[in-house]
Amino acid sequence: MSDLDQIQAEALARLGAATSLADVEALRIELLGKQGSISALLKTLGKMSPEERQEKAPKIQALREAVADALAARKDAMEAAALEQRLAAETLDLSLPAPATPQGSVHPVSQVLDELAEIFADLGFSVATGPEIEDDWYNFTALNMPESHPARAMHDTFYFPDEAPRGGRMLLRTHTSPVQVRTMLADGAPLRIIAPGRVYRSDSDATHTPMFHQVEGLVIDRDIHLGHLKWTLETFLKAFFERDDIVLRLRPSYFPFTEPSVEVDVGYAVEKGRRVVGGSGDAPGHAWMELLGSGMVNRKVIEFSGLDPDEWQGFAFGVGVDRLAMLKYGMDDLRAFFDGDVRWLRHFGFSAFDQPTLSGGVGARA
Ligand code: DAH
Repeated sequence: MSDLDQIQAEALARLGAATSLADVEALRIELLGKQGSISALLKTLGKMSPEERQEKAPKIQALREAVADALAARKDAMEAAALEQRLAAETLDLSLPAPATPQGSVHPVSQVLDELAEIFADLGFSVATGPEIEDDWYNFTALNMPESHPARAMHDTFYFPDEAPRGGRMLLRTHTSPVQVRTMLADGAPLRIIAPGRVYRSDSDATHTPMFHQVEGLVIDRDIHLGHLKWTLETFLKAFFERDDIVLRLRPSYFPFTEPSVEVDVGYAVEKGRRVVGGSGDAPGHAWMELLGSGMVNRKVIEFSGLDPDEWQGFAFGVGVDRLAMLKYGMDDLRAFFDGDVRWLRHFGFSAFDQPTLSGGVGARA
């Protein structure tokens, strides 16, 4: 039986020399696998006489067991050591300083939306929202654009095949104005809201993208007049552009949902190739730029919205958010807003810690 002792000694010696889990596994297969040498010894038992088997079987079994135990123990030890090493290597030191370049930034559109909410909250406006997949009735009809109205054609609307509940088809809203109607129907009067959000038109060049952002403003109360509109817009634009010399020019215009309608221009000058808002458009070196549409809410819209136009009046306005961002922060191609290019976002984005506040001036310092 010294044969068996020698096999065991040799097996344990080789196991001692193993340096990896793969070595241990190879040895296990060589000794205890189906074709393994110790397995082969066990198979010899079948050909022995009962007496011989009685004598040798326990010894061969003991050998197999000793070697199997040693293999398992070595494997456990190696796995435990590997885990120790990983734990040591993968420690996370939470006291280390933040990376030099913070990874995320706030998109200029989000930044401007935050600024608008802050400015208008200070004037007593709350934020209202509506669906981007809109019903023809809210987007057009209730805004005094019946089916045959020519203004509909100017909206380059994306339609869905689905019929809308009140006639026409479902569509991607072409402006935020339907939120006026939805909010009046839901909340009644008086009201002071802004309604920011995405709008869609089939249009694309350097200053137009098929999806863009607008913010709608709506005030409904008793005895509201054009003076309230002008003061509100002036106050808003002064806070937004952070300068006192904002000069507005109100021009008569036409929108189906306002009567009278006014288009609002701001004076600006070109400095270092950039349009800078401020001063009268009539001053030397200055010009007027069309900025937004507005007016007194049309009686028909107030009626469609379930209110009595003899009791409630109001004003509304709508302005492009992306355009405001471009003017304030100096981008010249709208398409880049929606490219998702990290280099652009790093350059024009804002820190998440830079929350707009009126006391600090709403603008972010990038
Ligand atoms: N909805 C208009 C548009 O998308 C903008 C607009 C003009 C909104 C006048 C208004 C308004 O509320 O009074 O072109």
